Amino acid sequence: MKTPALPMIERVLFTEEQVRDRIREVAAEISEHYKDSTLKLVGVLKGSVFFLTALARELTIPIKVDFLAISSFSNHSGSSGVVRIAKDLDEAIEGEDVILVEDIVDTGFTARYLLQNLAGRGPNSIALCTMLDRKSKRIVPLRIDYRCFEIPDRFVIGCGLDYQQLYRNLNFLAVLKPDRH
Ligand code: PRP
Repeated sequence: MKTPALPMIERVLFTEEQVRDRIREVAAEISEHYKDSTLKLVGVLKGSVFFLTALARELTIPIKVDFLAISSFSNHSGSSGVVRIAKDLDEAIEGEDVILVEDIVDTGFTARYLLQNLAGRGPNSIALCTMLDRKSKRIVPLRIDYRCFEIPDRFVIGCGLDYQQLYRNLNFLAVLKPDRH
């Protein structure tokens, strides 16, 4: 399908087809790795919902899903690294195989905090899967178990990523024009 030309877009990073194909590849890896277990995907509201749904549809194993929401606090130099759970999971994860699903990992503060927090609840295993890795922004070292794409240090929208809560529903990934943010 042709990607529409939209006035706020500088360039398309990954087309709908490229995103779908890559998610399918990662889903195949996950399905193989967890073929003997019932996996729980934990999504972080709101951005990861779109990726989590696309990923879940490509998995060939039984899964459960749950969601949490976080608040993160910024200071004058950007992210302060202070993360708080604003909405917790609905159910316990003790004894379960869990994958934390993120749309993007930047500094790594959010994922590190959540992985530590979830690990403290006694899951059988915990892994991290992110659609996007903006490695150049990383402050805390982090092991990413599953990643679809590494992206440059640009403002990216689509597939769950927003600008002022807009554009999450674009089914491709694009760089927002600098004069639009
Ligand atoms: C994004 C993303 C991660 C976090 C990553 O969420 O979904 O949770 O930022 O950043 P970090 O690696 O620097 O901690 P965002 O705060 O944009 O909220 P949203 O998902 O509701 O858009």
